[in-house]
Amino acid sequence: MLYLGMDSMNGGSHSHSTCITVLGGSGDLALRRILPAVYKLWTLGKLPASTRLVGLAIDELDTAAYRRLALAAIKAIHPGEDELAIRRFTRHLYYIQGDIRAAAPFAALRQRYFKHPATDGLFYLACAPDLFAEAARQLATSGLAGLNRAAGEGASRRVIVEKPFGTDLQAARGLNQFLHQHYREDDIFRIDHYLGKDAVQNLIYFRFANTIFEPLWNRKYIDRVEIVLAESGGIGKRGGYYDQAGAVRDMLQNHLMQLFCLTAMETPPSLAAADVREEKVKLLRAAWLPEHSADLPGFVRGQYRAGHDGQGGAVPDYRAERLVRPDSATETFVALKLYVDNWRWQGVPFILSTGKALERRYGEITIHFRQSPMEIPGVTPDANRLVLRIQPDEGVSMRFNTRAPGGGDSEHEELVGMLRDSASAAPGPYERLLADALRGDSTLFIRFDETEEAWQLLDPLLASWDSLSAAALQPYAAGSAGPDISGLYRHHPLWQQPRQQASSGA
Ligand code: BG6
Repeated sequence: MLYLGMDSMNGGSHSHSTCITVLGGSGDLALRRILPAVYKLWTLGKLPASTRLVGLAIDELDTAAYRRLALAAIKAIHPGEDELAIRRFTRHLYYIQGDIRAAAPFAALRQRYFKHPATDGLFYLACAPDLFAEAARQLATSGLAGLNRAAGEGASRRVIVEKPFGTDLQAARGLNQFLHQHYREDDIFRIDHYLGKDAVQNLIYFRFANTIFEPLWNRKYIDRVEIVLAESGGIGKRGGYYDQAGAVRDMLQNHLMQLFCLTAMETPPSLAAADVREEKVKLLRAAWLPEHSADLPGFVRGQYRAGHDGQGGAVPDYRAERLVRPDSATETFVALKLYVDNWRWQGVPFILSTGKALERRYGEITIHFRQSPMEIPGVTPDANRLVLRIQPDEGVSMRFNTRAPGGGDSEHEELVGMLRDSASAAPGPYERLLADALRGDSTLFIRFDETEEAWQLLDPLLASWDSLSAAALQPYAAGSAGPDISGLYRHHPLWQQPRQQASSGA
């Protein structure tokens, strides 16, 4: 596809026009992530000249009001941007008010923006997750996208599906089957914006473009692996969504699982999308959760209480957040331990954790190496530790034991490398992934079986929670380090716990 610069976008012509439709176009995801990303692509000259963006949602707005809303939202995300440029961009935005469950808004969409069969279409399902299937059905039955379109209608019509992809294994399978009835897998783009982050992509390079790590990347040298995605601040205006989702569905099943996969998968034969996805699926199939008991916990879940957001702002009790049920048992923090049964990882615990309203926002993968077996008089060696920092800054650090100058006890040196602010580098994750989807490149999107395998792993956990009372949730003060997860560091005696038994009862 030919990409034109910003000037030509304003006046130029393009034989294939493109229309990006955001279903749920006035929601939080659209306003905070999608519109600012499309704006950035526009300023970088990476959108075809005649691109239009249509927001479709239930809110009583018209195009003029939608443009004002978009202007404010983009200004809030990109405060340094020239307001005139944002205004010029918003002239490409349109709004259709309607219910996703009704045919009328889709007829209007088709009539107004897809009259020409050669118009390329990207449909972003950014609506409430329980409307994904209905939105996909309406797009297909109205002939806007999907298998129903007559052969020879040359334009691309692709669908981006946001997370959470299903709420459990059965729902994810159902959604996949449903989508496959209406669409080719190649036209379905299941998005996980973590895969669009530079620092996350760099994980693959770090592991496979350096020879020094691969020989150590296994149970012989590694004692345990920790993967943390911590966030500060409460859930804000997202209570309606979050209270249905919780930390497992919002962060663990997708973002954390992707980090786990990239950290632990076997070396793929190439970095081609199909090869990497294959290895991720194999890893997920070999992963399992140990049995959970009070003495030997396999997970910890928590919910925040009133506190602060780390920047002087107050955070209310989770149950007092807007649109959250007053007796909610939804977890805002989860930590769990999992194992992988293969030659590389057997017996090595992976401890994954994520939570809202914690003391600071950061994402890190820490590889703890085994202790040195050597006894050195007067020295307390500490295990080596490699930290891969995902955010806020990207970086790597390695901890060594050294001898203190002049003798005495050992010292610990932290070698820090590659600290960089990749988070604010362009393109950002949504920009990159939107540009890829427009081009039809699915390398950084999730294949249907990846989502199902991740659910297969986590389903027993969620099922066991259904029978736990709300009291099993550990409260933690907003702005604190979160619940105590030290119990997870007690290693499970693997030889007493055959895999089948463990994974069925977790
Ligand atoms: C989203 C979750 O997918 O990821 C949010 O729905 C979360 O709850 C966000 O805050 C975190 O993304 P990032 O890029 O800010 O780490």
